[in-house]
Amino acid sequence: MNRVQVATKSKVYDVCIKAGLRHLIGDAVKKVTEPVSSVLVITDTDVAPLYLDDVVLSFKNEYPVYTEVIQSGEASKSFSVYEQVMTKALESSLDRKSLIIALGGGVVGDLAGFVAATYMRGIRFIQVPTTLLAHDSSVGGKVAINHPLGKNMVGSFHQPESVLYDTEMLYSLPVKEWRSGFAEVMKHGFIRDLSFLNWLQEIKVIEEMPIEQLNTLLEKSISIKAEIVTVDEKESGIRAHLNFGHTLGHAIESD
Ligand code: GLY
Repeated sequence: MNRVQVATKSKVYDVCIKAGLRHLIGDAVKKVTEPVSSVLVITDTDVAPLYLDDVVLSFKNEYPVYTEVIQSGEASKSFSVYEQVMTKALESSLDRKSLIIALGGGVVGDLAGFVAATYMRGIRFIQVPTTLLAHDSSVGGKVAINHPLGKNMVGSFHQPESVLYDTEMLYSLPVKEWRSGFAEVMKHGFIRDLSFLNWLQEIKVIEEMPIEQLNTLLEKSISIKAEIVTVDEKESGIRAHLNFGHTLGHAIESD
């Protein structure tokens, strides 16, 4: 298991990186947080057919596990989908000891994290990223939905209890997804570590890299992010470096 500690002022937690980790989420929850009363797994229409059953089964019927599947895509970071998920949480009688699992890429992580930040004024959640790109957004506690007038304009800082990264799941991603995720990895090299950037440039076919190399790559990239959010959790200074390329990217996406 590769592991990175994220030590923010509001919470200290681990990012655990391991092939096949989705089958062990139930056990991992017991190790990383206080006992829970029930679980709501939030995922999307791309991920659910592939991995939702594995995650639900990992809880071995030890407590109620509810699921909510949202439409995949950025449009789901909306007030209406936020309300849909909140309704599911209320109908499932989630309480203050319940836990939300965000099983998906950045959209699911941001939305589920914002639901966790605001349901009953804040409950625990765990990020289970399923894309390479989400190695950035799943760490550091930025959670949000979009407003028609701007991306991520309604949100919070709410740190997860843990980030459980099953790198096996990344191998079902389309090449385009690997490339956009790799750009985010390179960003961490550009802003902080030239030797890491040089090492990344040796990788020829990113979607075919061996899983051990992928685990090392994620550990290194997430360590850079962890160092930054440790000193500046709420982006009053150096954390803005993590937005390198994002502002332009958001402008292109919204065009
Ligand atoms: N994705 C940029 C940040 O977490 O600050």
